[in-house]
Amino acid sequence: MKVNKRFLKIVIKFLRILYIFSQTFKEDPTDMKKYSRRKFISNSLKVTAGLAVVSIVPIGLTKFFNQDRVDPGNVWKELMKSDQTPLPIPPLLENKSSMPNVAEFHLTVQMSKKEFIKGKETNTLGYNGDYLGPVIRVKNGEEVSIKVKNNLNEETTVHWHGLQVNGENDGGPHNLIKSGESWNTRFTINQPAATLWYHPHGLHKTGEQVYKGLAGLFYIDDEVSDSLNIPKDYGVNDVPLVIQDKRLDSSGKIEYNLGMHDVMMGLQGETILVNGAINPYLEVPSGKMRFRLLNGSNARIYEFLFSNNQKFIQIASDGGLLEKPVEMTKLVLSPAERAEIIVDFSEYKKGDVVELTNQGTGLMKFVVNEEKQKTYNIPDRLAQIERIDPSKSVNTRKFVFQGMGPMVNINGRQMDMDRIDEEVNLNATEIWEISNPTTGMMGMMGGMAHPFHAHGVQFQLLDRNGVQPPKNERGWKDTILVQPGETVRVIATFKYQGIFMYHCHILEHEDTGMMGQFRVK
Ligand code: C2O
Ligand code: CU
Ligand code: CU
Repeated sequence: MKVNKRFLKIVIKFLRILYIFSQTFKEDPTDMKKYSRRKFISNSLKVTAGLAVVSIVPIGLTKFFNQDRVDPGNVWKELMKSDQTPLPIPPLLENKSSMPNVAEFHLTVQMSKKEFIKGKETNTLGYNGDYLGPVIRVKNGEEVSIKVKNNLNEETTVHWHGLQVNGENDGGPHNLIKSGESWNTRFTINQPAATLWYHPHGLHKTGEQVYKGLAGLFYIDDEVSDSLNIPKDYGVNDVPLVIQDKRLDSSGKIEYNLGMHDVMMGLQGETILVNGAINPYLEVPSGKMRFRLLNGSNARIYEFLFSNNQKFIQIASDGGLLEKPVEMTKLVLSPAERAEIIVDFSEYKKGDVVELTNQGTGLMKFVVNEEKQKTYNIPDRLAQIERIDPSKSVNTRKFVFQGMGPMVNINGRQMDMDRIDEEVNLNATEIWEISNPTTGMMGMMGGMAHPFHAHGVQFQLLDRNGVQPPKNERGWKDTILVQPGETVRVIATFKYQGIFMYHCHILEHEDTGMMGQFRVK
């Protein structure tokens, strides 16, 4: 029903455009001068707005309508009178410490309400706010303490996804924070600049709490990232984009009720949010922008591309900067994966609109606004990544993703808090071989892709089915999509002690038991 309604809306909008078109040219098909300029502009606006909404807006068309005679600043203001929201930018979390090289942060996990659709309220969860959380920003080498207060009426944890810390600070299912209680965690940052994130990780509870809104970004800066000539003004030309899908019911509520299909495939919604907003827009200068993308969805895999097939450059993967920038037109991110990309808008004029899409379906719009911006030359070499030599590996472990629905498992076992599945020696280098065989039932069903993630460590990919991984997967990774029929070999050195999780990052699979524990000691 919902789909039909949306389709109807699009059709109506399209018809309206046609109508405006016909009116525009009926009144004065030959002489534009007689036609009130104002009316022409307002009609063009509606046309542009309509086209943008229908998202079949080739850049050439908007250019045609703008034709220098319209002030693009006003164009966009007019456009936005409809139903467009500016992209929300999560705030940076205040560092309460005044000492150098020490950072202190306070997070409150809270229940809230939010209107994803105007006038329709739903219950949400948030860190220090109504949905998602602030960006925690630290420096490599810094001593960080974070106090987390749980104001939910249930347990939660806060897991630092991608952070290399001891098990007791990892925020996994063993670090439960009871309702009304606090958790103090303290660690030293010891890894390169990266875009990490944080989210809850209670046993069987991750899917629901993340879905309701608990997720935030965690940035690490270092000397390398500081020194590169790349955009780095937070919220200005260095902008986070947290992409999530929701199933909004007719009253605009997000409920976490899983049907059998959701248990099988993971919960996938029809409405895509960027930083918590439906189809928002962001004004961008005519220059280079840096976007930090997080797939914060429970289960959906995205293929990001721009409406006009605009090229962009990936500069970082999950665990930090790549050695070299990688040019691309498409980027696949599975749940929990991150990528930093540079998009160059300098070819566009004021008022041009570029859309970020998932396989062609619009997610948000970029409106080129200012004329000039400082020029950035993305260097050919971004960071030095020391390759881990496979001959240093002392052990090869196999992780086999198997089963469907309630049977999903790794190596034939489902998560058991009282069982340690793998024992790893501290400082050992190991090769982990993750496979997703398409045998038996799974094969008949065509199989399904699983994003593998392990806590407390960053990997380097050795190969996918024996073939060197694509260029944008040659940096540090903590989440790796494993396609049906694929075997991926990764290598890592385990430098932190404690109990850690490895699991599928489709949260419904994780919650069902597609997770295991390894202990480093
Ligand atoms: Cu993103 Cu086990 O976590
Ligand atoms: Cu993690
Ligand atoms: Cu899975």
